[in-house]
Amino acid sequence: MLRREIAAIAALALFSSAAAAQDTAKIGLILPMTGQQASTGKQIDAAVKLYQAQHGSTVAGKKVEVILKDDTSVPDVTKRLAQELVVNDKVAILAGFGITPSAMATAPIATQAKVPEVVMAAGTSSITEASPFIVRTSFTLAQSSVPMAEWAIKNGIKKVVTMVSDYGPGIDAEKSFSDKFKADGGTIVENLRVPLRSPDFAPVLQKAADAKADALFVFVPSGAGAQFVKQFVERGLDKSGMKLIATGDVTDDDQLNGMGDVVMGVINAHNYSASHDSALNKAYVEAFKKANGGLRPNFMSVGGYDGMHLIYEALKKTNGSTDGEKLIAAMKGMAWESPRGPISIDPDTRDIIQNIYIRKVDKVNGELYNVEFATIPNVKDPVKAAKK
Ligand code: DHB
Repeated sequence: MLRREIAAIAALALFSSAAAAQDTAKIGLILPMTGQQASTGKQIDAAVKLYQAQHGSTVAGKKVEVILKDDTSVPDVTKRLAQELVVNDKVAILAGFGITPSAMATAPIATQAKVPEVVMAAGTSSITEASPFIVRTSFTLAQSSVPMAEWAIKNGIKKVVTMVSDYGPGIDAEKSFSDKFKADGGTIVENLRVPLRSPDFAPVLQKAADAKADALFVFVPSGAGAQFVKQFVERGLDKSGMKLIATGDVTDDDQLNGMGDVVMGVINAHNYSASHDSALNKAYVEAFKKANGGLRPNFMSVGGYDGMHLIYEALKKTNGSTDGEKLIAAMKGMAWESPRGPISIDPDTRDIIQNIYIRKVDKVNGELYNVEFATIPNVKDPVKAAKK
């Protein structure tokens, strides 16, 4: 072969691989697929796959390719994977993030690489302040804890003990619940914390029982609720007269049905229930179950599903450009109907604005659900709202 020909073929090969890369928008999806937070990974991965099955994998002329990585919910691993996805795979977007430390560890990479970081699960208020490239489709703990405190004081609860997982979202839940409850005239008897890793609730439950409060307010992350409830019952606290109130992370749809009738009547506040009464949600739950062997979608799943909607619609707005700054600009202010109800991205904070529902665990057609009975519309993250 002539040298000229060889050079031409080589140039063509280079050109076509560059063109192929430009025709693809890659999403690096980092989730805990194994370990303590595995249910979060399983739910979000399933929701992302469902979104693509329903909406196709081509947007604005780009093929959207999702690269899934398991960070085992170890933040150093999350960071390393994010770096590899940006440098080696040239992803246009980073997404997922099962726990707050993982979302935080990735923030400097999002900033340096100017790659959007779509937080689909983690819920500490300050996450969106860690990088101008972070956008959240999940929730904040303050969003559900403040309405829970309001409901408690209005319904005759005067003395509360709080019990939270001892890290970002738990500390937000403790502070936002306690501040609101005290401001409205209530008394916080004690603030108790349990470790995130391998929690043993027994010692704090004994303290809670001794405090003889009207109610125990609880936050534990998705996946830990069933174990908490088991120990709550083992210590007889369900019969102590002290009410259990919570963020909806505790009465997680992923585990709720297995918790048993002891959780019936538990009042909690959250952004999503599988029994949310809308046509869109009914279709979502049915499609999700069908695609996943009957698995019920939980609040983590909608963070993933809506995160994909946000990415797809942003790509449409940029006409397929994967420029990070353009994508973030397109995401700001976007509003749509989610299976959880109406949601939008606050253009000032890049955090989610959504309804919070007060729910009661009840039996519907023989299964346990969080049945919504009151709605607080369009809740902005109270922590950031207070700073203004
Ligand atoms: C976080 C994780 C959870 O599983 C949850 O339910 C709420 C918050 C977090 O780490 O931010």
